[in-house]
Amino acid sequence: MCETSARMDGKVVIITGGSTGMGYEAAKVIAKKGAKVIIASRNEAKLIKARNRIEQITGNKNVSYKLLDLASLDSVRSFANDTLNMEERVDVLINNAGAVGLPDKLTADGLNLTMQVNYFGAFLLTYLLLPLLKSSAPSRIINTSASSMYIGHIDFDHWNDVEYYTSVEVLANSKLAMTLFTAELDERFRNSDITANTIDPFLVRDTNVLNNLPSLTKNISQLFLNVVGQPKEDVGKQIAILAADPSLETVSGKHFKFCQKWINHWLVSDRKLTKELWDQSKIAVKLSSDEDWEAYDY
Ligand SMILES: NC(=O)c1ccc[n+]([C@@H]2O[C@H](COP(=O)([O-])OP(=O)(O)OC[C@H]3O[C@@H](n4cnc5c(N)ncnc54)[C@H](OP(=O)(O)O)[C@@H]3O)[C@@H](O)[C@H]2O)c1
Repeated sequence: MCETSARMDGKVVIITGGSTGMGYEAAKVIAKKGAKVIIASRNEAKLIKARNRIEQITGNKNVSYKLLDLASLDSVRSFANDTLNMEERVDVLINNAGAVGLPDKLTADGLNLTMQVNYFGAFLLTYLLLPLLKSSAPSRIINTSASSMYIGHIDFDHWNDVEYYTSVEVLANSKLAMTLFTAELDERFRNSDITANTIDPFLVRDTNVLNNLPSLTKNISQLFLNVVGQPKEDVGKQIAILAADPSLETVSGKHFKFCQKWINHWLVSDRKLTKELWDQSKIAVKLSSDEDWEAYDY
């Protein structure tokens, strides 16, 4: 049921976290559809292995990798600048990379580590690539959220604090931020032929997402995931549908789960909140005036 025969020849697709897990599975399906695929994450050895396997399995030789560490705003800036210099277009940006169980600490950028890896890094990357997404329109942004968003909340006075939230709360907050960001993207770019949707993969088997957890918690959680979770290959297909299916070309501001539209977080329609999230995120990632294209665009 969750398949599309749509081809993506000539399209350029960036997938963060494309070296393992569901990002890798999505990259494989999308490469099979003929797109130029760029996978991005921190570990070069894993990226090379993933790139080689995708090329071998799909026969698509237009698969490349770029190093990206979302926990470093410098790394995000360098990735974005490199992309803007090297690519004539970006048709689909898939903000899939994320992590759980990270240490409760600030990054060198002064942001909460989990918030930066799961949200601020993707915010900055998207913001910097938006002019290219716009010139490549119709284009698509796909953001990975999670069911934990329903217990998250956004408090701009504390969202980057450490020793303030539990690890579950900060994860939930980061996924809620991603969802609210997507709602604001939809509002701002509805007329520019850029769609923005979220996907909730529910629980997924056999990925590395639990690797940062203490071993007992990891082993118990892994058992649970392996019983109730979806195969990562299925989630890869679900992401690929959002990237490729012609019927979704104008569908935006929606939340997807199990390959169908799903009930979104109730706060997505709180425009005051989503707008403030956008403005506060720009401050948090310290956008320079050169980077803030929005100041000239509106
Ligand atoms: N698995 C689940 O049950 C589940 C449920 C809900 C939501 N999700 C979300 O789904 C997404 C993918 O998860 P997954 O299960 O496929 O996990 P995974 O196998 O651990 O894959 C995560 C990917 O993100 C990359 N990554 C991690 N930290 C990064 C950083 N700081 N900068 C750049 N890339 C980074 C990893 O590569 P490197 O480590 O080499 O950088 C890897 O490619 C995540 O956003 C996760 O929160 C997963």
